[in-house]
Amino acid sequence: MRQVLVAGNWKMNGSRESIKGLLDGIKAGMGDVKAQVAVCAPYVYLADVQTQLAGSSIGYGAQDIATEDAGAYTGEVSGPMLNDFGGKYVIVGHSERRSLYGEADADTAKKFAAARRHGLTPILCVGESLEERQSGVTEDVVARQLDAVIALEGVAALANAVVAYEPVWAIGTGMTASPEQAQDVHAFIRGKIAALDAGVAEGLQILYGGSMKPDNAAELISQADIDGGLIGGASLVAEDFLGICRAGG
Ligand code: 13P
Repeated sequence: MRQVLVAGNWKMNGSRESIKGLLDGIKAGMGDVKAQVAVCAPYVYLADVQTQLAGSSIGYGAQDIATEDAGAYTGEVSGPMLNDFGGKYVIVGHSERRSLYGEADADTAKKFAAARRHGLTPILCVGESLEERQSGVTEDVVARQLDAVIALEGVAALANAVVAYEPVWAIGTGMTASPEQAQDVHAFIRGKIAALDAGVAEGLQILYGGSMKPDNAAELISQADIDGGLIGGASLVAEDFLGICRAGG
C-alpha cells in the first residue's frame, strides 16, 4: 500500500513571522493526521523551518534546485547547499518555473538528476495547460515531460521520487480537476511507468495539485491512483492544510 503524502508548496509567500505561526499551527494539529506531511519553503526560510521542525514528523524541502553543484551561477541554489539544511524534498519542474522562467523539459530533467545526486527526493511536476487539454493532447504533454526525466535518469530513478500531476488550468484558479479527470491522468502516468517497470509504478506516490482544498481533498485522494496532494494556497493556512492532511486517511 502506498502511503498518502500531503506536501505544501508555499511558493513565494510568507515571512519569518508568518511561517513560525503557520508551522506552530500545523504541528499542534498533527495528532490525528495519518498521512505523511511535508512543506516546501522559500530558500531563505529553510534554516528557520529546519529549526522549527526538529524532532517533528513533518518533512520539508525546497521549491527548486540548480542543475549544477557550484560555480558562477548567480542567484542559484545547489543540492549541496540544500543539504546543509537537512530537508528531504525538492520540487522540480513546477509549471510556474516552466512557464514564467522558461524552464524546458531538459532543464527539469537535469534538476531531477541534481536532486538525486545529493540524496534529495524530487517531486517532479507534470501537467497540461488549458489549451493543451482542450486540444486533446494532455497525455502527450505529460508523457513528454516524464520521458525527458526517464531518458536522462532511467525509470528506476522514479523509485526514489514523487510525481505530482498539476493541470496548469487548475493551479490557483479554484478550478479543481474532477476526481475522474485527475484519476484518468494519474492512471495514465502509472500505466506508462508500469510498461517500463511494474514495481516502480506500483510504489510511486503520484500527487494531485491544483486548487486542492479541505472540501475536495478526500474525494480526490480516494481515487485509486491519487496518493496525496501538492498544495499551494491552502497550505498557507494551518487549518486548511491540516484539513487536507486529515482527508488523506
Ligand atoms: P494551488 O493549490 O494554489 O492551486 O497551487 C497548486 C500548486 O501549484 C502546488 O504546487
